Amino acid sequence: MNSTTAPIGIFDSGVGGTSIWKEITQLLPNENTVYLSDSINAPYGEKSKEDIISLAKKNTDFLIQKGCKIIVVACNTATTNAIKVLRATYPLPFIGIEPAIKPASLQSKTNVIGILATKGTLSSELFEKTSSTIKEKTTLVEIVGKGLVELIESGKIDTKEMHNLLETYLNPLLEKNIDCLVLGCTHYPFLIDKIKQITGPKIQIIDSGEAVARQTKAILQKNNILNLNTEKGKHHLLINQPKKVLSNLIESFNSGQHYKIEELHF
Ligand code: DGL
Repeated sequence: MNSTTAPIGIFDSGVGGTSIWKEITQLLPNENTVYLSDSINAPYGEKSKEDIISLAKKNTDFLIQKGCKIIVVACNTATTNAIKVLRATYPLPFIGIEPAIKPASLQSKTNVIGILATKGTLSSELFEKTSSTIKEKTTLVEIVGKGLVELIESGKIDTKEMHNLLETYLNPLLEKNIDCLVLGCTHYPFLIDKIKQITGPKIQIIDSGEAVARQTKAILQKNNILNLNTEKGKHHLLINQPKKVLSNLIESFNSGQHYKIEELHF
């Protein structure tokens, strides 16, 4: 394998980053990927910055061992807490994901936007810096989505428990007259249907998945490591918990990809 056919490495604290994997494999169908789901350590959002950095490094080391040419940190919590250290530590390019509060503030008519994210993301320096740039014009209502990642990791998306928890978080946002809701965690796109049942059609839901895929393509091009092969990419997904939830999600994308899912300890 040379530097162009080497896989794109993608990691998350769990299965949520497959929302990014999906966007990347759609935009770049010839690229090979290795996806790492560190589900045993989810949620990252309740951990200290030091712990998040050390897990992000461990995941990166693993993906480098698998020969990856670029790393996509498909986790807002890991990006906002660890990407600076990752970029300073490793020689390969990193793509991160951050909550799309800037685009949301530009689109908002009420100038009140909501953000649902983890505690780790909302309390990070990087988020603080980005949010301070929009706060003059826009009111940002922040909600920690505690418990949502755990329910998704245990396959409980379509449950009453999920609906009730979402209501607890979204009703206070609706009372504040938000017109945009930013999803600041890569697990949350799997909740869009459930969120819409509560918010109705008037609230615009914004996430950064597509933008991350476009940025990945741009950085591959810039570094001359875009895979120019014409055959479809191969995908290897690894998880350190039982693989059922991950398999169900990937199957639900129904994208005709060549993929294999493996359970392993790491
Ligand atoms: N998908 C991660 C994110 O984007 C979930 C964080 C967690 O594990 O708490 O933030």
